[in-house]
Amino acid sequence: MINVIPKPNYLAVTGGERSYREKGVGFIKNEALEDEEYYLEITKERICVTAKGEKGFFYAKKTLKQLSFLKDTVPCLVIKDKPRYSYRAFMIDSARHMQTVDEIKTYIDAAALFKFNVFHWHLCDDQGFRIESEEFPQLNAHGSWRNGHGFGSTNTDRYGGYYTKAQIKEIVEYCRERFIDVIPEIDLPGHTIAILSSYPSLSCRKKEIPVETRPGVHKDILCAGREETFEFCFKLLDEVSELFPYEYFHIGGDEAPKDRWNECPDCQKRIKDEHLRDSEQLQGYFVNRIVKHMAEKGKKCIAWNESLNSGMLDKDVIVADWMDKEHRSEKWANAGGKIIVEDFFSYYLDYPYGMTPLEKTYRFDPNLEGLDETGRSNVVGVETPIWTEFVENFDRLCFMCFPRMMAVAEIGWTNAAKRNYKSFEERAEKARAILAETGITMALREKWNPKGTKRIPDLINHYKRFATREGIRQLLNLDEN
Ligand code: ACM
Ligand code: ZN
Repeated sequence: MINVIPKPNYLAVTGGERSYREKGVGFIKNEALEDEEYYLEITKERICVTAKGEKGFFYAKKTLKQLSFLKDTVPCLVIKDKPRYSYRAFMIDSARHMQTVDEIKTYIDAAALFKFNVFHWHLCDDQGFRIESEEFPQLNAHGSWRNGHGFGSTNTDRYGGYYTKAQIKEIVEYCRERFIDVIPEIDLPGHTIAILSSYPSLSCRKKEIPVETRPGVHKDILCAGREETFEFCFKLLDEVSELFPYEYFHIGGDEAPKDRWNECPDCQKRIKDEHLRDSEQLQGYFVNRIVKHMAEKGKKCIAWNESLNSGMLDKDVIVADWMDKEHRSEKWANAGGKIIVEDFFSYYLDYPYGMTPLEKTYRFDPNLEGLDETGRSNVVGVETPIWTEFVENFDRLCFMCFPRMMAVAEIGWTNAAKRNYKSFEERAEKARAILAETGITMALREKWNPKGTKRIPDLINHYKRFATREGIRQLLNLDEN
């Protein structure tokens, strides 16, 4: 078996082996190939890579690294390879729990090895604002910190921090060297308690509230009625955009309850003045204004699928389909809009293996049932998020992500007809040593696909911190009014 993840789309083993030295590889440029495409030919006489430019060569080198790991020989073969999808992303939530710059770099190294090309960085949420802001210093002095570790933890120490602009630039540069675009997310208008806690005048009730320590969805969101909110968002997005020299920016848009907007005179006035139907359409208005501002600055937006609920989303937005019972994302794609598939039940890596076994992740294909031919052509790719409410340290993060993120790497790269779960599982186990060299400890193989009653301990462990009174109160958001 050829131990490469993602599995190449065309591979012919021609027999025999030859010695391998990185310096002994020949490179030929061929303008006719696509940016991410590469040919690799290994014969007894030579090792030769053909690609259009640096990106294709980079992927060929990642294939060679896997072929030659722990050996000084490589098998003779021919590989002709290019990805199924142009967007192959991993997401890290650095808001609920932060990772160090070195930890993020370690994850990026692994992601590059498996040919991911986008890092979606979830940097702000109810429980913390994690980007240095000179425009709005309260976001860091106040909004980057919470009272206690939260999420049912008994640790009451103040928790928080933020990435300085220098650190962010360092990560962006690290990614650039690995052909990974970094797409930051500022989640708007919901998941903004850290912002509202720093600047209460941006909320409908203008009430002082603490940076959140509980998980879940919270009712306080940015007020869409007042111009002050838009001025704040535009300035903040401009400041953050400067750090990320890419075409796309993620503006969130998920889980924004409408309770406050329904009661807020300013929001209700806006609905009337703009001839909107209701608060759901107010979110459409809100998102489209942000999208228009970003377009004026030369940026396109990605938004979570709830942004479709208003029925008026700007057509250039890419919809991130994570949980969409109404299948609006599929209809959006069938009608010509672009989507990213990141299915909650399969690609979310914060849920235990007992709930989302590796095989389930691997078998979920982005060609969703409701897509017609046009819709399928509008799937730009896949993404696999790790949300970190219950992922307090990097070892835990690696346990949750490896090997499941590698399954999504293969789905994003390898054509469905070429994929095979049993082969993937063998190759994933073989990748343990190469990951260990990178600084990542993969979950033990016996954990990957718990069967029957073996799934239960996983689920209990996941939720056990909520077995206390405080935990239940937190989980249910009992003191929110
Ligand atoms: C999400 O998981 N709320 C996008
Ligand atoms: Zn309001």
